[in-house]
Amino acid sequence: MKKIIIANWKMQLSLKESLVLARGYVKKLNLQKNEIVVCPDYAALAFLAPIFKNTNIALGAQDCAFSAKGAYTGEVSPLNIQSLGAKYVILGHSERREYLKEDSVLINQKIKVALENKLVPVFCIGERLAEKRAGKTKEYLLQELRQGLKGLKIKTVNDLIIAYEPVWAISTNKGAKPISCSEADEIQKFIKEQAQKILQKKVRVLYGGSVKAENAADFLAQAHIDGLLVGGASLQVKDFSIITN
Ligand code: 13P
Repeated sequence: MKKIIIANWKMQLSLKESLVLARGYVKKLNLQKNEIVVCPDYAALAFLAPIFKNTNIALGAQDCAFSAKGAYTGEVSPLNIQSLGAKYVILGHSERREYLKEDSVLINQKIKVALENKLVPVFCIGERLAEKRAGKTKEYLLQELRQGLKGLKIKTVNDLIIAYEPVWAISTNKGAKPISCSEADEIQKFIKEQAQKILQKKVRVLYGGSVKAENAADFLAQAHIDGLLVGGASLQVKDFSIITN
């Protein structure tokens, strides 16, 4: 199975910059080796769809509403995300948990609605520095998995992806540095086993957090790392082309 590499552009780019970067991806990336997914902000989604059409680059959103329709001012429906041509949606990212106060109940609801609307959720989990320092990483991850995946039914390995992103390793967080490859692999093995127990299905688990051109290949070589979720280093065509090559 190909590895899957997801670019999370977060809210870092203007619309114009998003279009330039998207065209640069199409021109410069190796589109055969891995599955590549780009998650721009909502406003750019519709404009990127024609650029990626007939390429191997898939589109994803960075979040979606907890319902497909309703009086929810400011929310964006998974139904509309799907009809714009997106296949994936990142849910439960630590930045949304922290700044938007999203909790596991809401994230669980969003995962369910995303699945109902034919989107593949990229469900993010990860311990913060506090849990890591207290030696409670696995305990915390298990709790996030149990709450986020509660009551879910998936049919195939392709229906849902989990992304392990230790919050302390995300490049924009103070003092961030990547986890070691062997530690990531060991934790990802744990996540895979636990998720399989909960869902009764295998799932793919990606790693995210300070992935760069110089360390991506080492992460991808690990047995339990099925791909990468990349923030900062996806904003430069040159870096991202090394990561995806
Ligand atoms: P960085 O790659 O910038 O550490 O971001 C990781 C991330 O949060 C991707 O979702």
